Amino acid sequence: MKVFAIETSCDETAAAIVENGRKIISSTVATQIQEHCLYGGVVPEIASRRHCESISQVGQICLKKANLDFSEIDAVAVTFAPGLIGSLLVGVSYAKGLSFALQKPLIAVHHLRSHIASAYLSNQNLKPPFLALIISGGHSHIVYVKDYCRFKVVGRTRDDAAGEAFDKVARALGYPYPGGIQVDLAAKSGNKNAYNFPRPKVEGSEFDFSFSGLKTAVLNQINNFKQKSLEPNKNDLCASFQEAVCDMISARIVLAAKKFSQTQIVVCGGVCANSAIRARLKKECKKNNLTLYLPDIALCGDNAAMVASQGYYEFLNNNIADMSLNAFASLAIDY
Ligand code: KG4
Ligand code: ZN
Repeated sequence: MKVFAIETSCDETAAAIVENGRKIISSTVATQIQEHCLYGGVVPEIASRRHCESISQVGQICLKKANLDFSEIDAVAVTFAPGLIGSLLVGVSYAKGLSFALQKPLIAVHHLRSHIASAYLSNQNLKPPFLALIISGGHSHIVYVKDYCRFKVVGRTRDDAAGEAFDKVARALGYPYPGGIQVDLAAKSGNKNAYNFPRPKVEGSEFDFSFSGLKTAVLNQINNFKQKSLEPNKNDLCASFQEAVCDMISARIVLAAKKFSQTQIVVCGGVCANSAIRARLKKECKKNNLTLYLPDIALCGDNAAMVASQGYYEFLNNNIADMSLNAFASLAIDY
């Protein structure tokens, strides 16, 4: 079964075709980052307008790369929540039009469910149940994935998402948006023990995260330097910040694996492209006899292949949408 999927939840306009949830036939991502970079972050109205302008062409390019015709598509999947509402509505409207014109099923896909599905594309043997850590620009969740379409949220951030903390630290250091990758690169030449930043815990909720306290500690350190007209060692700051993030996420995922008696761990989302985080997770999982499944780096950020993959499993679970499908800015993964 070939699922054609659309993703427009934030600042990437993406289309993909995936066969039986696992095999990528074609995947196209048109990013708007260069334009949002001018403003230091995503400007929602600009994002919606750019999706509107490019979605049809992105769909056509994706089909052409696959050497397929729309008539050879079996279903249309689309991200409908959560995300920027104007952006989501562009994708949902396009997908509805396509589904109606082709007379093929329409499948609504939750953005976080699709991030988890990115791991199916890179690990053909991976099957639920497993424990997933989603670390993206908008979310940081630990989820017990009981089955392809059954989820239980085990922990979440109480304030900033992991990616948000990366982006804010990067911004304070003068790096362009989105700063996660810049922090990753700078940290490679830094000393991770230069600063002992806090690793905040949430009282009474051992699996929840709080990245805001860590972010504030790094920003305070940067301001300290500025007040003294000193130039901070950016590489050391990035490496020490990243080390604290590595400690925070690896401790919780190992603890959650024990509590839920899970040996399969999936880590996904944009921040999972981080080289130090990937290396640390591999080390900690090996030490604790856990099998780690990561998406390929190209599938960590927003893309439509992961939407098509999850769309296939939603279809198998009879989760078919109709022409009244709407978009939602926020929606729990276990809706
Ligand atoms: O999953 P994603 O593409 O979009 C959301 O659903 O939010 O994640 C984007 C986030 C941004 O905060 C970006 O800075 C971060 O992922 N990111 C990274 C790296 N690459 C992307 N953070 C740390 N290290 C990276 N290499
Ligand atoms: Zn995302």
